[in-house]
Amino acid sequence: MSAYRHQQAQAFINVSEEELNIKDFHPVYDCVKPLSAHWRGIAISLRLEIDTINSIEASSHGNAISCLQKVLEHWLKKDYAYRTNGIPCWRMLCVAVKEGGDPALADEIAREHPLPAMPLERTTSLKGDTRDIRNLLQEKEQQNMTLIQELKAEKEKRQKAERQSHEAEHMCKQQQIEKEQEMQEHRLQLEMMNKMLQEKNKELQEKDRKLQEKDRELCQTQEADWVINKDEVTLTKEELGRGSYTVTTVGIFRGLRVAVKSLHAIVISDYNLHLFSQEMSIASRVHHPNLVQFISATKVGNPLILTELMSTSLNRELRRNRLTNQQILSIAQDVALGLNYLHLFKPHPIIHRDVSSHNVLLKPCTGPGGYEAKVTDYGTAKVVQADEFMQGNIAYAAPEAPIPDRHSPAMDVYSYSVLLMEMILCSRPEMTIAEREVQSGSVSWSDMKSLIQRGLNANPRARPTMAQVIEALKRMKI
Ligand SMILES: Nc1ncnc2c1ncn2[C@@H]1O[C@H](COP(=O)(O)OP(=O)(O)OP(=O)(O)O)[C@@H](O)[C@H]1O
Ligand SMILES: [Mg+2]
Repeated sequence: MSAYRHQQAQAFINVSEEELNIKDFHPVYDCVKPLSAHWRGIAISLRLEIDTINSIEASSHGNAISCLQKVLEHWLKKDYAYRTNGIPCWRMLCVAVKEGGDPALADEIAREHPLPAMPLERTTSLKGDTRDIRNLLQEKEQQNMTLIQELKAEKEKRQKAERQSHEAEHMCKQQQIEKEQEMQEHRLQLEMMNKMLQEKNKELQEKDRKLQEKDRELCQTQEADWVINKDEVTLTKEELGRGSYTVTTVGIFRGLRVAVKSLHAIVISDYNLHLFSQEMSIASRVHHPNLVQFISATKVGNPLILTELMSTSLNRELRRNRLTNQQILSIAQDVALGLNYLHLFKPHPIIHRDVSSHNVLLKPCTGPGGYEAKVTDYGTAKVVQADEFMQGNIAYAAPEAPIPDRHSPAMDVYSYSVLLMEMILCSRPEMTIAEREVQSGSVSWSDMKSLIQRGLNANPRARPTMAQVIEALKRMKI
């Protein structure tokens, strides 16, 4: 290599060493521009610093012509270690062009820029000068070699970094693919489980349907228990009250004073009679001290329903006078216990659908509350509401009441909360949901207020269950 460099330098011994500067840019550039693709080799040969070369490359975005121009500019401005590497001159350019890969062009440049003619006395010392130049060229060649090695090391470093980054990228991709596969497997498993769940659900629905059928059959076989003949009942003239579709009077049944409710002709239809039978069968199986006891019913003509006779209704009492907090708490507990029993009824919960102060009946008692409260009409609400225009008392109706599919025990919790508010404020509940919400704000009994407002939540799932209401009432202070 050294011999080669030496030869190269020797080839340009007769080329001008006169200093070039930036004014010579155009002639210099015109000579080398065909070699723009080899700008980097030329820059190295011209001894530009490696940092300079890199910054030229970065600032030119890889445009070779622009790189070459910048290299020449730096060179001609002596922006390199020119003291050790020699000043810019045609000879240096020739070497660079040859190293850049175009010896013919280098020779041409050499011919066009020869050393100026020597005076005669100087030719004798030409041999000595040539030796100096040779030494200088050898030195430069040495420096060139170091530079090339540095460049090589730099290149290897860069290649290694690139390799590492490729490997990291590859690993990342691999991991991503594995994750995606895992997720896909999970998705498949989920789908399978979903399918299994759906099948189980279907099975359960089928079982439920069969159970209901059995239940209906059972009701029919038990029919005899509650059906009585109309002539067993003697109606008195003592009217207890009237509902929208009912009249209730005192009657005598086997010597016992009972309440007899007769359903209005308007609600009598084949469908309703069927429903009526079902509801009465269920009512006949209901036994709880806080539910007005169903006794029996007739089926022929306008049905009559016989129940335990109570003294008065909560609605009537509230119109007469305000209740004490102790009375309110005692009635609230009784009603909650009755409703909780219905909601936990097996095999299906019984939803009252018409909880109101009209359907809470009272009997005086000796306890601290002064009243024993019982819920009534738990078997008739569904029959009366089978007509789509009848949806219980609107002042107590939960937002979901008009949508039968959404009926659940929570709709009774809503009505129960309205009832609590009515007892505490001793005034009729407002007719709209929004107004009732505002109305609940005027309850000053803070524990009750919070219970009422939870029960009035528009979302049925956010309301407490009757069992939770019972617990809250137990903790309540008067
Ligand atoms: N078992 C009973 N003992 C004593 N009074 C009763 C009994 N059942 C009903 N009453 C009285 O008769 C009234 C009318 O009752 P009914 O169930 O016919 O209609 P309502 O409950 O007032 O209204 P609706 O049924 O239209 O909501 C009641 O408000 C209550 O005062
Ligand atoms: Mg009633």
